[in-house]
Amino acid sequence: MSIIDTPATDTAVIPGPATPYQGDIARYWNNEARPVNLRLGDVDGLYHHHYGIGAVDEAAIGDPADSEREKKVISELHRLESAQADVLLDHLGDIPADGTLLDAGCGRGGSMVMAHQRFGCKVEGLTLSSKQADFGNNRAGELGIGDFVRSRVCNMLDMPFENGTIAGSWNNESSMYVDLHDLFAEHSRVLAVGGRYVTITGCWNPKYGQPSKWVSQINAHFECNIHSRREYLRAMADNRLVPQAVIDLTPDTLPYWELRATSSLVTGIEEAFINSYKDGSFQYVLIAADRV
Ligand SMILES: C[S@@+](CC[C@H](N)C(=O)[O-])C[C@H]1O[C@@H](n2cnc3c(N)ncnc32)[C@H](O)[C@@H]1O
Repeated sequence: MSIIDTPATDTAVIPGPATPYQGDIARYWNNEARPVNLRLGDVDGLYHHHYGIGAVDEAAIGDPADSEREKKVISELHRLESAQADVLLDHLGDIPADGTLLDAGCGRGGSMVMAHQRFGCKVEGLTLSSKQADFGNNRAGELGIGDFVRSRVCNMLDMPFENGTIAGSWNNESSMYVDLHDLFAEHSRVLAVGGRYVTITGCWNPKYGQPSKWVSQINAHFECNIHSRREYLRAMADNRLVPQAVIDLTPDTLPYWELRATSSLVTGIEEAFINSYKDGSFQYVLIAADRV
């Protein structure tokens, strides 16, 4: 059966933006064409809208005077972004080839392609942006995996799936656009009991006190609302999602930001990320939780 005629995913109504704010976010991502995202994706055809983790391979980027340096830096940043998606997928556990995965807030679909390549299963993606959904579907078609990987314009707080039909689900840098209780209630509804939920996200650190000026700057830049680590854990606990791993990826993402800040692809927000990670007000975390 192809993904297109899977009953669990068929629905009469595909909801779009439910609020004026969601309309703003749809517009933001429909208009988004930053070179930092597109040029990195062009490296191997996996298009991400998230950040990277891991040590920079200094030998791979070469000498600053190297005429090929910029191209090498772009490849390296992209490698670190794919490494981030790999770590997220590692935490989904074993997914059978006849299961269905869900990427909530799927962007241009890079993580979905990686998930299908790893597990051989169907992967459903939801985004508010029609441009992103079209891009992801075209890319899946080009790769010959259009029967398995599908993106749709849909609000992730109102998912077009029956209860308990999803084997594993994730938010990769997309949970700061929604209320966490509403989000986790919906993941919990569609996940099978025993299914795994994973998020990688930036969150403000309750130990710091309140969101720092850098966190406020990041919110303004992306028109989002970064939550605290405490809010994630509380909203999961309230929605039958029991953390199995909470990993602080902050030290692992700093090298990515420091490299990115030296490239021609800077967007102006690099300083806020680097300073907030260093002053402890902001953290990059992975949380993997079991649906019980
Ligand atoms: C920073 S991008 C992350 C994209 C992708 N997860 C990745 O790793 O490349 C944020 C994504 O969240 C999506 N998003 C935000 N709010 C959403 C909502 N309520 N429903 C569905 N998608 C949403 C946006 O459309 C966008 O695709």
